[in-house]
Order: sequence, then C-alpha cells, then structure tokens
Amino acid sequence: MINPDDLSCDFERTFARTPRVYRAPGRVNLIGEHTDYNDGFVMPMALDRSTWVAAAPRADRALVVASREYRETITLDLDCHPPYPTESWIDYVRGIAAVLDGSGPERPAPHSQDAAPAPDSPDVAPAPDSPDVARPFQGRVTGADMLIASDVPIGAGLSSSAALEIACGYALLDLAGMPIDFDALARAGQRAEHEFVGIRCGIMDQMIACHGETSGALLLDTRTLQHRSLPLPASLRVVVGNTMVHHELASSEYNARRADCEAGVQTLSSRFPHVRALRDASLPELEGVRARMSDRVYRRCRHVITENARVEEAADALVAGDFVRFGRLMDQSHHSLRADYEVTCAELDTMSAIARGLDGVYGARMTGGGFGGCIVALADASRVDAIEVELRTRYEAATGRRPDVWVCTAGAGVSRVK
Ligand code: GLA
Repeated sequence: MINPDDLSCDFERTFARTPRVYRAPGRVNLIGEHTDYNDGFVMPMALDRSTWVAAAPRADRALVVASREYRETITLDLDCHPPYPTESWIDYVRGIAAVLDGSGPERPAPHSQDAAPAPDSPDVAPAPDSPDVARPFQGRVTGADMLIASDVPIGAGLSSSAALEIACGYALLDLAGMPIDFDALARAGQRAEHEFVGIRCGIMDQMIACHGETSGALLLDTRTLQHRSLPLPASLRVVVGNTMVHHELASSEYNARRADCEAGVQTLSSRFPHVRALRDASLPELEGVRARMSDRVYRRCRHVITENARVEEAADALVAGDFVRFGRLMDQSHHSLRADYEVTCAELDTMSAIARGLDGVYGARMTGGGFGGCIVALADASRVDAIEVELRTRYEAATGRRPDVWVCTAGAGVSRVK
C-alpha cells in the first residue's frame, strides 16, 4: 500500500517543494465485459488500490514526470508532440495532458459515447446526438512536476492505465484551478487512450475511476453515462485472483474485437435501422441476419447481446439478494467470453473453474479485457478465508504459477488526498 506522506517526502527530495497528492482507483468489473464500446451496460467496482500522483505546478510548459514503478523520469513539452505511441507508460500521461490542454494534434469528432477512432481505424460518422466532447478543457493545463506511484497491478486487467490517466488528469486540472467535471474527465481519459496509446477502449474504466463508491459497484449505462450505486451486502465478498499471465490488450486483439462488433452493427442496421450499436439489437434480430455475416462476427455479436442482458439481470438479482442467480450469470459470462468472444486463456479458464468448484463461491469469471490478467469471484463472507487459501493452492498446483489472490473492498473514485 502506498503512503501519501512517504510519496510527498519522496517528491520533496526530488523536486525540492511541497506537492499536492492525488489518487485514482483501479477497478474490478463484476459483470458486463466488452459491452462498453457497444453502448451497453457494465457493473464495475473501484478497487481499494490506486495510482497516486504527487504534483506541483511549474512556471513553464514542461511536464517532468517521475515513475516509482518504472524508475525513470521523463520530461514532456506540452507544445511539442513527437511521434507516439512509444509503448511506454508515458503515453498515458502525454495523452491525458494533451487532450486536457487541447494541444494535441487535431482528430475527427468522436462518435456517440465514444472518443475518436484510432488513426488506423475506419472512419465512423459522429452520431447526430453525440455530445461535443472534442476539446472540453482546451488550453487549460500548465506545466508540472509529477511523481507517480501505483499499487494497482500493471497489465493484470484491473485498469491501471485508466487509474493513471484519471489521477494525472485530475491533478493537472486541479493545479490549474479548474472545476472538474467527472464525465468530461472520463471522456478525456478515453480519448487519450484512443489517440495516444492506440487502444480503442470503451468508457467503463475511466468512469469508475472517477465515480467509484466505497459502498460497492456501479451499474453504468455507457450510452448515456447514467449510473446508479449497487451496494454490496455485508454477507458478500469480492475475491480477485491474478493468474499472473500478463495481458496484452494492445496486442491488437482488443481492437479486432471491436472491429468485429462494428461489422456486426453494419449488417444488423442494414436490415434493422434502429440498431445503432449492439446494445440496440436482440437475439432474434441477430438470427435474422446470421446468414449475412461470418460465424466469427455472429459469435462476437451473440456475446455482446447476451452479456448486456446478463448485466441487467445481475443488477436485479443483487437488489433482490439472489446471489445464486448473480453467480450463475457470472459463470455464463465467462463461458460466453471463452467460447464466443474468445478473450480468455487457459489460465483464466483454469482459475475460474477452480473458484467455481469451491464451497461458498456463487460464481466466477474473467474480468477486464482478457487474454490474461484476473478473475473475479463472488463469495460468501463466512467462507472467504478458506476460499482464498484453496484458490491459491489449487491454481498453483494446476499451473505451476503462484497467483496473487485477495479479498477486495470497494474504493472511492478519484480525489485529492492532501
Ligand atoms: C478494457 C477496456 C474497457 C472494456 C474492457 C472489457 O478494460 O479498457 O473499456 O472494454 O476492457 O470489458
């Protein structure tokens, strides 16, 4: 765990002045995977682990950014944009700073709830009702010295990248004395990732990093950005297990899934004009155009349509206290992500299957983008200690990898700590 006073002292030693300290959480998604870039529903919970930023303003337009984890310091000039992505952590910082500052290269207007497409992606016409999020904070960032540290595991599907973007973005706006609109900040983080990192992510991670609540999860509609709290009852625990397989979200598989969904929407909307995103389509409608799409695109669409329905049902189940039904939906979600969406891997399948077989576990599934990273299980509080031990032991015996397993409590959204 990171201590903000230690971070402050480190900053003072490096930059010889007193910083403000900010933090933004990682997240675990309980259900609703790969639905957010299809205008669908998601149910993330902010972690009690965060990315922390100690920062103080500078008089010039430089960002001097030190990372504890990567043990390096990089200086950026807000007025100069060398080629990117560099495939380094600094792309996220450069991206959010440039988007908030309005100083990045011009891009096409964003589509629907989304940020602009990555440079190599097909052009998407802005929806008529799309909010103008192109340059919400134009020209407002000043230079800063920053020291970053994180206890969100990196590359584990727990959204360390959104935590980094949102913590830095919040810090830069606060240092500039600007009021902070969370939805606009979330969109700016998403835009940074599209334009400066090259991942065409949805908005879930940035929204939960901004709006996380210590009472539990959020049910988020990624089309409207409306959300409501879903407090977790005291008898439930959320267990996270890291397979220790590093996920490679940037490996273009993520963008490929997204392109498949867009191809599906194109076919669906030619027959059913009300379908603007997979969120608008039903299974019978998908069946109606099945012959006109590849089997792969069909299965991608089937995952998204069924997953969206699962999120809504899971929210009802949680409110009704029906944890068995919630758990069954988590299991079905994993199955769909494995068979239809093809974003799991052997270790995620193994760990979630082990979890599912343990006494006191209601359900288990992979969480996040996939291709490695973590599983999430919903467990009975009275059994959770045994579950933690069993999951660790059995996974290691099955794979030879020593996992990280912990019970996580919900964290709060981004904030200034001191
Ligand atoms: C990553 C992306 C999110 C979301 C998930 C999959 O975490 O950043 O926007 O698409 O994958 O649900």
